[in-house]
Amino acid sequence: MKLIIATIKPFKLEAVREALTSAGATGMMVTEIKGYGAQSGHTEIYRGAEYAVNFVPKVRIELVVADALAETIISTIEATAKTGKIGDGKIFVLNVEEAVRVRTGETGADAI
Ligand SMILES: Nc1ncnc2c1ncn2[C@@H]1O[C@H](COP(=O)(O)OP(=O)(O)OP(=O)(O)O)[C@@H](O)[C@H]1O
Ligand SMILES: [Mg+2]
Repeated sequence: MKLIIATIKPFKLEAVREALTSAGATGMMVTEIKGYGAQSGHTEIYRGAEYAVNFVPKVRIELVVADALAETIISTIEATAKTGKIGDGKIFVLNVEEAVRVRTGETGADAI
């Protein structure tokens, strides 16, 4: 299993959610965050030169998926979240040791 963590522009959330559901994602976590990437937020939102770093609102989505589905999920996020402008986000992929569905006690891929 893989944990896919992606930051996206907030206005893209609904389109990304729909595309991921169509692609076979069975669940996800969503968090409103602030962050910055290579531009330190400077060129995305101007708030005056006095600030060393400007945090920019983003949405963080997290999905745990079976290994076989990971590439599809990644490419779906990439295609759906892209505007071509700076700040489109990042996708990180981590290995997942274990998952448990609390209601049934199922584990591993059966739990996702
Ligand atoms: N190296 C990183 N580690 C952790 N989070 C990051 C990293 N880079 C970006 N992020 C997160 O992703 C969000 C979006 O990053 P962003 O798309 O601006 O990356 P970038 O490298 O600056 O690319 P671009 O040049 O397209 O803007 C940031 O606000 C931050 O929350
Ligand atoms: Mg950036």
